[in-house]
Amino acid sequence: MSLFQIFLVLFVSILYGLSSVHTTPPPSDAPRQELSRYIANVKQADRRLYSAKDHVGHTMDCVKIIPNSEIFNEFIAVYHTYINGIPKVNLATSTDLMTWTWIRELASQASQPAISISSDGGFILIWEQEPRNHLKFVYFKTWSDLQQGIIAKSYDALRTLSVCAEGTPNIYRANSTYIEIGYHYYWNCDVDRQARGTLINFKKWQSTKQQNLDNALLHWGVKGNIGDRDAVTYDGYDFTLIEGQYAKKDFGTWRTFIYDYQTGNADQLNIETDGGSQAFANPTITFITIDGQRAILVTLFVPSENSAPGEAGELIYYKKY
Ligand SMILES: *[C@@H]1O[C@H](CO)[C@@H](O)[C@H](O)[C@H]1NC(C)=O
Repeated sequence: MSLFQIFLVLFVSILYGLSSVHTTPPPSDAPRQELSRYIANVKQADRRLYSAKDHVGHTMDCVKIIPNSEIFNEFIAVYHTYINGIPKVNLATSTDLMTWTWIRELASQASQPAISISSDGGFILIWEQEPRNHLKFVYFKTWSDLQQGIIAKSYDALRTLSVCAEGTPNIYRANSTYIEIGYHYYWNCDVDRQARGTLINFKKWQSTKQQNLDNALLHWGVKGNIGDRDAVTYDGYDFTLIEGQYAKKDFGTWRTFIYDYQTGNADQLNIETDGGSQAFANPTITFITIDGQRAILVTLFVPSENSAPGEAGELIYYKKY
């Protein structure tokens, strides 16, 4: 080796060393960690409700809550309740997020509802409909129509990615002519995997698999379903809360992860409840204003497997920030 070559090798090694030591963390790391702490720390939430039920006693399973765009300081919840083995989608309202007034049943043989304000007025709902488990889209023109169950438009999406089941929708954005959602498809009728779809004019349904999202959880050894999710933008960065089941058919192994669109990675959230429940499924997240303050509202389904006494069922909590 000539002296020049030795210098060159040294120079390149030093450069390489410097670049690996001083790699700056991805800019979404700090906001993701901050958001994760708010979500994980149930014990320090401003208010929390375990095993949520509405005023007539319906369990509020897999609830999604949004502010009512037509009534100041009111929140709308959609959820499902099993009655004699048949799931029903229910609607309720609240002003404090802890006590819920049941309004009506919206659908039968239906579960896992998602709701969004339609950006051109009214409300979009999507749920899992039986028979032939599939996604059903429904549009209500006004709050008054939703309370009365008066449907303006609807669409049953025939399954495209699974011959067995497609469901657990979340809504990325919606208006009365254009709806973009996330959902799961039952891959090979074996395990749930991630997909995304668009419904145009309540007529044209297009869908694609979301393997990046799957891979981020498979990386941690998730062997069962990768299912329900909900998306948010926090501090300018996009994140998704998503459930992953470590062992097939084992409800006690559901965990909730936070997926970072910027890095393509997911972290498991170490959620701490008062009693120390371990399994958490069907995450939703909504930014709200309550008592004039910004707050992060989270809901999780706590399966009875691996749950602490009194904590199984739907968990609703919020933290002001
Ligand atoms: C609905 O959203 C789509 C996509 O963002 C947009 O092109 C369309 O103009 C919107 N329609 C209405 C009625 O707001």
